[in-house]
Amino acid sequence: MTNNIVIAIDGYSSCGKSTLAKALARKLHFIYVDSGAMYRAVTLYFLRNNIDLHDPSQVAGALKNIHLNFHSRDYQTHITLNDEEVSDEIRQMPVSDNVSAVAALREVRHEMVKQQQRMGRSKNIVMDGRDIGTTVFPDATLKIFMTADPKVRAERRYKELHEKNPDITLEEVFENIAHRDYQDTTREESPLRRAPDAIILDNTNLNPDEQLQFALNCLNRD
Ligand code: DC
Repeated sequence: MTNNIVIAIDGYSSCGKSTLAKALARKLHFIYVDSGAMYRAVTLYFLRNNIDLHDPSQVAGALKNIHLNFHSRDYQTHITLNDEEVSDEIRQMPVSDNVSAVAALREVRHEMVKQQQRMGRSKNIVMDGRDIGTTVFPDATLKIFMTADPKVRAERRYKELHEKNPDITLEEVFENIAHRDYQDTTREESPLRRAPDAIILDNTNLNPDEQLQFALNCLNRD
């Protein structure tokens, strides 16, 4: 029996899950784990190595060659793929455009969920993703399901991406978010769903401080 605390934050793409998860981890001195970064790093490997997603033996072979590690510095996610720092590259559009297809593969999900469960076995953690409260940690201490108006989400993400990539358009970002929402909610293998015991947080009109307070209230700590 372990009695460590796990906080699961799930929700749609670009809802501010990681902003809230990091703020909570910082406030509570928990470890923050960005599960989406793991699917993104796997996608980057698949793209670089032209892995055919329809060929299970190629997928299984690739997964054996992928070694992921998190290094948390000041609650920012630094992820390495086979010892190479890929934290910036996994946020670029080629990965964003392909990650939902990779994350829909059963073999990929199996491997990632196994690694995520290992991380939550002995430490207090905040993990964000799509299936954390439903599949990875169905017994999590607190589950929050985040949502927000898709237009507001696209505008927020556009602002972030535009700083690094001035050529990007708001329409492109909106399309990508809509596409990922569709794929994430309709895939067969652990689709994005609200766990029945997850608390809904619609942050369309909430600032980050208000969201942190909401989550702390859910834990009865402020
Ligand atoms: O949170 P994010 O946008 O960085 O996640 C990238 C993709 O990974 C997202 O489109 C869906 C997938 N994902 C998933 O299927 N399960 C998770 N637990 C986390 C992310």
